[in-house]
Amino acid sequence: MRRMDRGELVAYVRSHGDGVVSSVGPDGRPQAAYLAITATDAGELVLDTRASSRKVANLRRDRRVAVVIGGADGTTLQCEGIADLPEGPDRDLCAQAYRDAFPRFATSLADPAVLLVRIRLTWARYGDYRPGVASSQEVDLGIAVRRVRADEWEPARALRLDALRDEAAAIAFLDTYENAARQSDEFYRDRTARASDGDDIAQFVAIDGSAWVGSVTVIAQRGGSLDYHDRPLERDRATVVGAYVRGEQRGSGLVDRLLDAAAHWGRDLGFDELTLGVHQDNGRAQGAYRRAGFVPSGFIFAGPNGPEVEMVRRL
Ligand SMILES: CC(C)(COP(=O)(O)OP(=O)(O)OC[C@H]1O[C@@H](n2cnc3c(N)ncnc32)[C@H](O)[C@@H]1OP(=O)(O)O)[C@@H](O)C(=O)NCCC(=O)NCCS
Repeated sequence: MRRMDRGELVAYVRSHGDGVVSSVGPDGRPQAAYLAITATDAGELVLDTRASSRKVANLRRDRRVAVVIGGADGTTLQCEGIADLPEGPDRDLCAQAYRDAFPRFATSLADPAVLLVRIRLTWARYGDYRPGVASSQEVDLGIAVRRVRADEWEPARALRLDALRDEAAAIAFLDTYENAARQSDEFYRDRTARASDGDDIAQFVAIDGSAWVGSVTVIAQRGGSLDYHDRPLERDRATVVGAYVRGEQRGSGLVDRLLDAAAHWGRDLGFDELTLGVHQDNGRAQGAYRRAGFVPSGFIFAGPNGPEVEMVRRL
C-alpha cells in the first residue's frame, strides 16, 4: 500500500469529521472523549471544547494527545501529537477550518467559554482493514526525521551555524558561531560523515521539503571513559547534545520526533538510558525535555556556560 501523505490525511479527517481524543489526566491516566474534528490545510487537527472541560485542564498541564479517527468503515487513522490553544492568526486559521467543516457550530466559536484546540501531529498511522486489504502504514507527515547522510555536510553546517546564532546559543551550545564559522569544509565533511554511520555518534535531522528545520545529535559513551566534561563514566549511556529546532517549527512537537529518533538509536545499541545536560536557565529546553520523558537526575554540574541540570530518559 502506498503511504498516505499529509494532503490525503487532511481529506480523510475532513471526510470523517469526528473521532476520539485522549489526553493525560491529573494522575497520569488517559482520559478520552468523542468529538467533532477537522483539519487545517497544513494537517493540524482542530476541535472545539468548553474552557471548563477536563480536557482543557489536562492540556494546560500536559500537551500530549492521542487521537483515533474512523473505525466504523474498516479504516482508521491513529495519531499522536502536541496540542495547544492557539491565539491570534493561528486561531483564525483554525477557526476558518472549523467553520468550513461545521457551519452549524460557527456561532459557538464566538462564545468566550468555547476554546479551539489545535493538534500538531508527531506521528500517524493509517490502517485499512476492509476485506481483502488488511494493511497499515505510517503516514508521511511532510517533515522527514532521519539520520544525516555523509554527503549532507553543507546543509548540516548551515543548520549548525543558524543554531549558534540563536538567542539562546550562549547557554545552549558549547561552541560559538565565530569558532564554527572558521572551521574548514574538511572539518564539516568529517563531522557529518562520522555522525552518518556507525555506533559512536549519530545526528538526526528534520527536513521540511528542502528546508532543514531541526537536529539532535546522540553520542554513545562507554563506562570507564570520560564524558565531555572529563568526568569518568560509571556506566554506558547515550547522551543527547546540540538539540535545535528552527523558530517557526518550535512548539510543533518536532523536537519530540528528533528525541524519539535518538532514543530508538540508543535502544537498538543496547543502552538503557538517554542523558543530557541542560543549562539551569534554559527553561524552554527543560520544558521540551520533560514533555519528551526526561526527568532531572538530581545532579547539577558546572558546565562551561554555567550550571547544568542533568536529565535522564529511560529507554
Ligand atoms: C530547545 C528546543 C529544541 C525545544 O524545542 P521547542 O519546539 O521550542 O519546544 P516546545 O515549545 O515544544 O516545548 C517547550 C516546553 O517548555 C515550555 N516552556 C517554554 N518556555 C519556557 C520557560 N521559559 N520556562 C519553562 N518552560 C518553558 C513550553 O510551554 C513547552 O512545554 P509544554 O509543552 O509542556 O507546554 C528549541 O526551543 C530550540 O532549538 N532552542 C534553542 C536551542 C536550545 O536551547 N537547545 C537546547 C540545548 S540543551
